[in-house]
Amino acid sequence: MTNPSDHVLIFDTTLRDGEQSPGATMTHDEKLEIAEMLDEMGVDIIEAGFPIASEGDFAAVSEIAERSQNSVICGLSRANFKDIDRCAEAVRKAAKPRIHTFIGTSPLHRAIPDLTMDEMADLIHETVSHARNLVDDVQWSPMDATRTEHDYLCRVIEIAIKAGATTINIPDTVGYTAPRESADLIRMLIERVPGADEIVFATHCHNDLGMATANALAAVEAGARQIECTINGLGERAGNTALEEVVMALKVRNDIMPFQTQIDTTKIMNISRRVAQVSGFAVQYNKAIVGKNAFAHESGIHQDGMLKNPENFEIMRPEDIGLAGTSLPLGKHSGRAALKAKLNDLGFDVGDNQLKDVFVRFKELADTKKEVFDEDIVALMTDGTDDA
Ligand code: KIV
Ligand code: ZN
Repeated sequence: MTNPSDHVLIFDTTLRDGEQSPGATMTHDEKLEIAEMLDEMGVDIIEAGFPIASEGDFAAVSEIAERSQNSVICGLSRANFKDIDRCAEAVRKAAKPRIHTFIGTSPLHRAIPDLTMDEMADLIHETVSHARNLVDDVQWSPMDATRTEHDYLCRVIEIAIKAGATTINIPDTVGYTAPRESADLIRMLIERVPGADEIVFATHCHNDLGMATANALAAVEAGARQIECTINGLGERAGNTALEEVVMALKVRNDIMPFQTQIDTTKIMNISRRVAQVSGFAVQYNKAIVGKNAFAHESGIHQDGMLKNPENFEIMRPEDIGLAGTSLPLGKHSGRAALKAKLNDLGFDVGDNQLKDVFVRFKELADTKKEVFDEDIVALMTDGTDDA
C-alpha cells in the first residue's frame, strides 16, 4: 500500500533542531524574524522551539504562536506531563497549535530512562493521551527509530495512534540509515501498523553520513508525507535534511518524484542568507542550491556553454530560488567567450585582435589570483590602452 496523496508537508525545525547546533543560538527577535519568513514562504509546520528548555524558548514559541498567520506552530516536549503542559501553554495562542512529544525507543535509548519495553509502552500511551487532551494536533516520535527493533516500533506506533497521535515521525536520529532502508522502513510501517492509513508519517533525517536528503526523499516515495528539515541543513552534528534541497529536488525532478509542496521557492535564497547571518553558520561555497558556487561557472567550456544556452550546465534557474542570475566569475579556467561577454558588460567593445591581446594578459593575471574582478578587467583595458 502506498500513500495516494501527492502533497508533501514541509515541517521546518530550524528554530528547534537547527538551534541545537552548538553555537547556533539565536536571539528572541531573530527567531521571530525567521519564523515570519518561514510562514511567508509557505512552510506547513514550524517547530518553534522546546518550551521547557528555557524561559527564552518558552517566550519565543509563545510569541511565534501568537503572530503566525498560516503555519501550524509546534513545540517539542519529552514524554512527561510537565514538559507537555509547558508546551501546550506555549503554543496555546496559535491558530493551529501542535504538540510534538518524543521518547527514545531503540535498545540504547531505552536504557537511558531505564524502562522495560512494557513500561515504555505504558508511558507512551499516557503521555500521548495527555497531549491529545490538550490539543487536537499531536505528533509523536520514537527517537532513534531507525535503530529500533521493528516489532517494538510497530507496537509503540500503534499505541501512539490509538492514544490520539495524528502524525508519527520516524527520526533517523544519528544519521545511520541509507535510502533503501529508509524507504523499506516506511513501507513496512504502513503495511503492518493498524491505523497507519489514518495518520501522516513524517521523516526526520540527520546528515552524519551525508544521506539526509536522499533518505528523506526515499521515505516520501515509500509513503511518508511530511519532511522535517531545516534551512541550510542547520542542525545537531552534521545537521538535518536541508529544506532547500528536498523542496528543489521535488520541483526539479517532479517527473520521477511526482509530489508537491506549497513552498514559494523564490524566497529560499533570502532566508538562507538570513539564517546564515543569525546563526553564525556560514554556508559552504559548494552547498547544493544555496552555496555561493551553486550557480557559478568558471571554466571556459562551461562559461561558453552557459552563454549559448543556460540549460547546458544548469538544471534549475537561479531566479527559481530568488537569485538575480547566474554568475560567470573570471579565473584562470575561463575562456575567451566569457571574457568578451564581461568586456561587453563593462562597456568595452573589442575587436578580434584586441580581444586576443587582452586575453593573453588576462590569463597572465588570472594565474596569480583566485578570481579576476571587474576592477582588474578595467585596469587591464586601461593599461592596455596606455601601452598601445
Ligand atoms: O533527531 C531526533 O530524533 C529529534 C527528535 C526530537 C525528533 O530531533
Ligand atoms: Zn533531530
